[in-house]
Amino acid sequence: MTTPRITIFDTTLRDGEQAPGFSMTEDAKLRVARALAALRVDVIEAGFAAASPGDARAIEQIARTVEGPVICALARTTRGDIDAAAAAIAPAARRRIHTFLGTSPTHRDYKLGMTRAQVLEAIKAHVAYARERCDDVEFSAEDAIRTERDFLVEALSIAAREGATTLNVPDTVGYTTPEEITDLFRHLSTHVEGIEGAVLSTHCHDDLGMAVANSLAAIRGGARQVEVAMNGIGERAGNCALEDLVMAIRVRGDAFQVSHDIDTTRLMGASRALAQATNSHPPRNKSIVGANAFAHESGIHQHGVLQNRETYEIMKPEDIGIQTDGIVLGKHSGRHALVARAKALGFVLEGDALDRAFATFKLVADEVGIVDTARLLSILGDQEGGRAN
Ligand code: KIV
Ligand code: ZN
Repeated sequence: MTTPRITIFDTTLRDGEQAPGFSMTEDAKLRVARALAALRVDVIEAGFAAASPGDARAIEQIARTVEGPVICALARTTRGDIDAAAAAIAPAARRRIHTFLGTSPTHRDYKLGMTRAQVLEAIKAHVAYARERCDDVEFSAEDAIRTERDFLVEALSIAAREGATTLNVPDTVGYTTPEEITDLFRHLSTHVEGIEGAVLSTHCHDDLGMAVANSLAAIRGGARQVEVAMNGIGERAGNCALEDLVMAIRVRGDAFQVSHDIDTTRLMGASRALAQATNSHPPRNKSIVGANAFAHESGIHQHGVLQNRETYEIMKPEDIGIQTDGIVLGKHSGRHALVARAKALGFVLEGDALDRAFATFKLVADEVGIVDTARLLSILGDQEGGRAN
C-alpha cells in the first residue's frame, strides 16, 4: 500500500500575518514566500487581498515572482473579495481562491445575523462565483468544530457540488481534542456528498496547546491537506506549527503513515527568515526551531550526548538545517568564522549586533572551550531576543 501524501498549505503570510506583532512589509512577505517555496510547501496563502491595497500588491508580487507552490488568496463570501483575490493571484502559474463563511450557531447568530438557509445560499452562490474565476477553489466552514454535524455536512456538500476542490474544516478557536477531530473527519469522509472529488483539509488553532496533536489526529481521520504556519504564528495562540507537524511525520512515520514533500533541511532557514521579517523570535524552548531545541546544559545530559547524541536527541540538527561545517568555534576563533557560522544559521551579523555577539561569544568560549551550534544559537537568540522583546 502506498503512503498517502499530505498537502502542506502554509498560511504564515495570511493567518500568521494577521496576528498582532507579525505584520510584514511587502518586501518582507516576498522574502518569507521565497523561503517557503525553498521549503517546498505545496500552497502559499499569500494574504487577504481585500484587506488592504498593500496586501493585494504583496500577493500579486508573490504570484508574479515565486515559482513552485500554488499561490492562494483569501476572500470572504462576497463578489468584491473574490474579484480582489482573483486579480491578485492572476500572475501565478498555479493559483487558488480560498473563500470562507462562518457556519456555527455562534457565528450565524452573533457575527453574521444569518439563518442556516441564508448561509447555505451564500456558500452556493460564492463558491460558484469563485469557480468561474479559478479552477482551484477552497471553501472553509469557519468555526466548523462548533457547527452542528448535520449542518456542516450540508454546507460542505453544497460547496463540493458547486465545484470547491478543497473543503477546509477549521478549528477556528482551538477548541477540539484529538479524539473528537479524528471522529469528525471520519464522519465527513463518509457523509459529505461529492467528497470523492475534493480534498478534506484541517486548520487548527493552538488556544489549548493542541493544534499539532489535533492536526495529526485529523490526518488519522482522513484529512489530506494540513494548514500550518512557520513558527506556529497566527491568530491568538497561533496555528499548527509547520516545523512541528512535518518533523512529527518524519520522525514518527511509523505512527502517522503519511508523507510530505517538505525539505526539512530548510526549516531553520525559513524560521529565521520569518523571525527577521517580523523582528519577532520563537521562544528559546520552542520545539524544533528554538535556541534550546538542541542545547544540553545539565552535566548528565551533556555526558550522554557526548557519548552518543541519541541519548537525548530524537532528530539530528542537520535534519532541520543546522549546519555542521567542521569549523570549531572556540576562544581563538575570529569574527569571520562567527559571521559565517551565524549566516549558515540564518542570522545576519553586522555593526553593533556583531560587536555584541562577538563579545559574548568570547566570554562563553573562555568558559566552555568549544562553542557548539546549540550554544551559538543561544548567544545569537539572546542578542535578537533582547532587541525583539
Ligand atoms: O481559523 C479560521 O477559521 C480561518 C479561516 C479563514 C480558514 O483562518
Ligand atoms: Zn485560522
